[in-house]
Amino acid sequence: MPFDSIDDVQNALAKENYICDRALATVVFLGLKLGRPIFLEGEAGTGKTEIAKALSSALGRRLIRLQCYEGLDAASAVYEWNFAAQMIAIRAAEGGADKDDLFSDDYLIARPLLQAMQPQPGGAPVLLIDELDRTDAPFEAFLLEALSDFQVTIPERGTIKAPTPPIVILTSNRTREVHDALKRRCLYHWVDYPSFAREMEILHARAPEASAALSREIVAFVQQLRKEDLFKNPGVAETIDWAKCLLALDVIDLSPEVISDTLGAILKYQDDIKKLQGSEAKRILDEARDALPA
Ligand SMILES: Nc1ncnc2c1ncn2[C@@H]1O[C@H](COP(=O)(O)OP(=O)(O)OP(=O)(O)O)[C@@H](O)[C@H]1O
Ligand SMILES: [Mg+2]
Repeated sequence: MPFDSIDDVQNALAKENYICDRALATVVFLGLKLGRPIFLEGEAGTGKTEIAKALSSALGRRLIRLQCYEGLDAASAVYEWNFAAQMIAIRAAEGGADKDDLFSDDYLIARPLLQAMQPQPGGAPVLLIDELDRTDAPFEAFLLEALSDFQVTIPERGTIKAPTPPIVILTSNRTREVHDALKRRCLYHWVDYPSFAREMEILHARAPEASAALSREIVAFVQQLRKEDLFKNPGVAETIDWAKCLLALDVIDLSPEVISDTLGAILKYQDDIKKLQGSEAKRILDEARDALPA
């Protein structure tokens, strides 16, 4: 077990510039301790993908990422045979050359799940199964099996079992419900938008060039914006992006004009942007300033 305590997890991730609240650190701690996959669901841009990256560098383990998408199948997730290379080998063999074993490693293309079952230097890798909600039910069922015994079977080669199970992090944006059976295997955590104080910490870690005064205004404004009735709330990623835009423009403090000029960094839907035109930006800015902690 690489960590002695929940504080240890928090500190190790902070060193990687990942600011994680205690509830999330607890889930990570328990996931590692009990060897259970961690299932993170939450709004976009709240640090679900990033924690897998931070954890792998904190542990010095390889990060293996399986990006999910509609139509993802076992072949693209586990392994494929390099058919073209096999054909060439067969041709060469017909010409009198030695016939290689067509099912040797030379022709095996290991995709993320197989890679995660293979021994890795530095120890078991971190396996990130990202945006699981984008796949379909059959793939989920397949995944459930792969995650329950951490082994995959290649008919021509037999079963490959992970020497030590990978550290698995699954994420979902909840565009659909992930099946209970899969969730039951995992430790679950809902990743919410951070509090004002935590978002300040994150911004400080990710955009340290921003002054404390400007950062406070940025975070207060974004937090206020999340209370508005928007189609798509800005995530933490947007807060950081916006701060970087404002820094690039040498902005010292927010004004309604600056806000409307740079809204594209925080809002990605025209309807939301339109809502903030005119006096609305000023109103929200005023409310944000009123809400600022002393
Ligand atoms: N707790 C955090 N500490 C440090 N940086 C963070 C944190 N949360 C988010 N970020 C920043 O926000 C960016 C976006 O986070 P990430 O890509 O992990 O979001 P996500 O939850 O996976 O979003 P999506 O659902 O859109 O994939 C990261 O690159 C990182 O810079
Ligand atoms: Mg993500």
